[in-house]
Amino acid sequence: MGLYNKYILPNAIDWACKQKSSMMQREKIIPLASGMVLEIGIGTGLNLSFYDKSKVNHLTAIDPSTDIWKKNSFDTNTLGFGFDFIEAFSENIPAYNNSFDTVVITYVLCTIQDTDKAFDEIKRVLKKDGKLLFCEHGKAPDRGIERWQNFLNPVWKKIGGGCNLNRDIKFIIERNGFKIIKLEKMYIPGWKPASYNYWGIAEIK
Ligand SMILES: C[S@@+](CC[C@H](N)C(=O)[O-])C[C@H]1O[C@@H](n2cnc3c(N)ncnc32)[C@H](O)[C@@H]1O
Repeated sequence: MGLYNKYILPNAIDWACKQKSSMMQREKIIPLASGMVLEIGIGTGLNLSFYDKSKVNHLTAIDPSTDIWKKNSFDTNTLGFGFDFIEAFSENIPAYNNSFDTVVITYVLCTIQDTDKAFDEIKRVLKKDGKLLFCEHGKAPDRGIERWQNFLNPVWKKIGGGCNLNRDIKFIIERNGFKIIKLEKMYIPGWKPASYNYWGIAEIK
């Protein structure tokens, strides 16, 4: 899987994540980020153009794959605020306690291996009155689609860089000490098993 992960997967992820429907989702959530911001699993940087430079002081982005990040086509010097990229996993975030006002996750909870550990880290680095902004795909509400998600998941996970189709996003966020203060859900246009989206805002309980 070495060559596949290095050369094919980053292009496939970039293509899938920049479909019009998911770009429209980013526009709903990213402009809400403010202050010191941490984006987890930045991928190819598809959220970068949606940050509101009048609200953001600095953006730190992490991703375990520098190969994926290198596929970005955004000039971070034009962001209008400070930016740094660090190769790191969400399960071990290289940042001080209480250092961010906003943590952003988009289409990344599906792939994080140890979500409980990642949320322990998010709670550690997020200020107590900070916000978690999320936009994720996950478990569908219809039994028929959910069955397909469960059936396809083992193969999908192998070819999709560890992506799970069937994670219960609301349950995972709430189980990990967050209170969801705004939640919206719907199928966005696209392949149904991967298109049920959950997006909103959460705070530490
Ligand atoms: C489907 S892509 C989404 C990228 C980006 N967030 C977006 O919305 O376009 C998932 C990303 O999560 C990253 N990732 C996988 N496991 C991770 C982890 N444990 N911690 C942080 N990022 C992770 C992958 O390298 C990949 O860039």
